[in-house]
Amino acid sequence: MDIIVKESYEEMSKCAADIIANFIKSKPSCVLGLATGSTPIGTYRELIKMHREGLDFSQVKTFNLDEYFGIGIDLSKPYEMDQSYARFIYEELLKHVNIKKENIYIPDGLTKEPEKFCQWYEDMIKKAGGIDLQLLGIGRDGHLAFNEPGSSFSSRTRVVPLTEQTVDDNYESFYRKANIKKEDMPHFAITMGMGTILEAKQLLMIASGKKKAKVVAKALQGPVTTRIAASALQIFNGKVTVVLDKEAASELS
Ligand code: GLP
Repeated sequence: MDIIVKESYEEMSKCAADIIANFIKSKPSCVLGLATGSTPIGTYRELIKMHREGLDFSQVKTFNLDEYFGIGIDLSKPYEMDQSYARFIYEELLKHVNIKKENIYIPDGLTKEPEKFCQWYEDMIKKAGGIDLQLLGIGRDGHLAFNEPGSSFSSRTRVVPLTEQTVDDNYESFYRKANIKKEDMPHFAITMGMGTILEAKQLLMIASGKKKAKVVAKALQGPVTTRIAASALQIFNGKVTVVLDKEAASELS
């Protein structure tokens, strides 16, 4: 595992974006796994800058990690979407680069047939040849995507309940955007499973800020356990790169 520690959030973002951009340049038709949350926003801004300077997304395929269940997505009307991760990824990255609509895959939070949809999502990842490079954030309870503590390392794309801590942590970004009441927050999500994530060829995890320091140390240097989903990075078969800012790295020994 390569652990890179940068001085600031901005430098962490630049470093992660450089890794992704170099990957796209070396394989223009690559399959990227995309993360949401506040951490990757800077990385996406850097990628948008690089796109304006020529980075080409025309052959890139993307698969998002997760989506709230019950809110959603209408790809024909991306600007009418609500607080979904679909909207987030359009606003923060996809609408600013030359990616083809048919190459964008996002879990459908409004599906009426979740099991069938989850199987289809898995099939689409396989059909694309698997995920080449998966970008990941980390939740304060160590979750990757929405694989909350206890998720099996062999779990696949599925509907999951969210822990109260995750609902609390994510409430702030909902409230900021839409003045939503806490009781109206989604308590379920569709998420790629740990097994799905661990089949990617390469993983890139980013984390920033003091509030992530403890969980980053547990994930990277503590025991490998399903109680901390991100600890699975320690036993991942392919290349893992972790880019942290100084604060997120502050509890590493
Ligand atoms: C969310 C997402 C994760 C994300 C994590 C951290 O719950 N499902 O994919 O990595 O929380 O979010 P943030 O980057 O805002 O701290």
